[in-house]
Amino acid sequence: MEDKIKELQAQMAEAMKNISSKEELADFWQTYLGKNGQVAGLMKNLRSVSKEDRPAMGKLVNQLKKETEERYQKAKEKQEALELAARDRKEQIDITLPAKKRTVGSLHPLTLTRNEMVNVFSGMGFEIYDGAEIEDDDHNFTRLNVPQNHPSRDMQDTFYITKDILLRTQTSTGQIRYMDAHKPPLKMLSPGRVFRSDSDATHSPMFSQMEGLVVDRHITLGDLQGMLEKFCQQIFGENVRTRLRPSYFPFTEPSVEIDVSCFKCGGEGCSLCKGTGWIEILGGGVVHHKVLANCGIDPEEYSGFAFGIGIERIAMLKYGINNIGLLTRNDLRFLRQFQEV
Ligand code: DAH
Repeated sequence: MEDKIKELQAQMAEAMKNISSKEELADFWQTYLGKNGQVAGLMKNLRSVSKEDRPAMGKLVNQLKKETEERYQKAKEKQEALELAARDRKEQIDITLPAKKRTVGSLHPLTLTRNEMVNVFSGMGFEIYDGAEIEDDDHNFTRLNVPQNHPSRDMQDTFYITKDILLRTQTSTGQIRYMDAHKPPLKMLSPGRVFRSDSDATHSPMFSQMEGLVVDRHITLGDLQGMLEKFCQQIFGENVRTRLRPSYFPFTEPSVEIDVSCFKCGGEGCSLCKGTGWIEILGGGVVHHKVLANCGIDPEEYSGFAFGIGIERIAMLKYGINNIGLLTRNDLRFLRQFQEV
C-alpha cells in the first residue's frame, strides 16, 4: 500500500509539471482528485489493509490528498493568472495611435446669415411670421397696391401656376396676411423664400428675403432709418452709417432705398462699393395708406414702415461671395469654409 501511495505521488507530481491549460487542469482533477479518481481509489483500497496498518495508511492517503489538492489550487491560480495576462496582451489598446477623424456638418452660410439677422430683429421685439411660398395674386400684388395691369408688375418676373395662383415674388405678402390677423401696434418679421424668373451672377430664380413691418401711432420714416441703422451696425460693424435714397415701391409712400457706408473701405471707395463708398442694402418706406386700409387699419389713426432685405445679398457682402449660384450648388469645398470652430 505504501508503495502504491508513493507511486501515485510521483505520478501526480509528474502530471502536474505538464499542465499548461485549463483543460489539462480539469483532466488532472478528474483523473486524480475527482470522485472516481485515483486518490479516491486508494481510499477504497484501505479496506483491504490490515486493521493495525490502516490508521497509518489512512493518514498517508489523507495527507497525499490534502497536499495534492493544495498543489492543484496553486496550479489553478497560476494558470488563471497566465491566461489573464495573455488576454490583457491581446486586448491591449495603443492610445498613441491617431484617432479616426469624424466629419461634422455645419450650418449653411445662408442659414448663418438669416439666423444672425433674425436675432437682431428678435432683440428689437419683432414677431417672426412664416408665410406661404404658394400665394394668390391678391396677397402678392393687388392688396399691396399693385392692381391688375399696373406697370409696376413688370418689376418682378412672376412664375404663375394658374391665372390667380403664383409662387410669391416677395415676402411682402406677409404684410397683408399678418395685418389681416393682428391689430396694431404690431412688429412683424417674415423671412422666407421667394421666386422670380431671373438668373445671372447676382440673381437666382429662388432666393430669400426678410420682410419687416411696424405699425403703430405716429410711426415715421425716421423710425425706419433709426432701426435699420442699428441693424446694419450689428451686422456690419459699429462704425457703419446709413443713408436713404428716394425710390419707388407701390406699397410704400414715400419709398426709399437704404445704403450702408462701405464696411470694407470705410467709405473711401473700393472694389466692393464700386468706388462710391456706399452699398445698397434694402428697400423700404412708409406703408402706403391704401395698404393699411386694405387690411382694415385706419390710416388716419395708424401709420407704419416696412422694409425688405435680400438675405443672399447680405450673405454675399458679409462673406465676400461673388456668385449667388455658390449658395445653391452645395459644393462641399465651398460649404466647408463656413465650418464653425
Ligand atoms: N418687396 C420688395 C422687393 O422684393 C422689397 C421691399 C421694398 C419690401 C419696400 C418692402 C418695402 O416692405 O417697403 O423688391
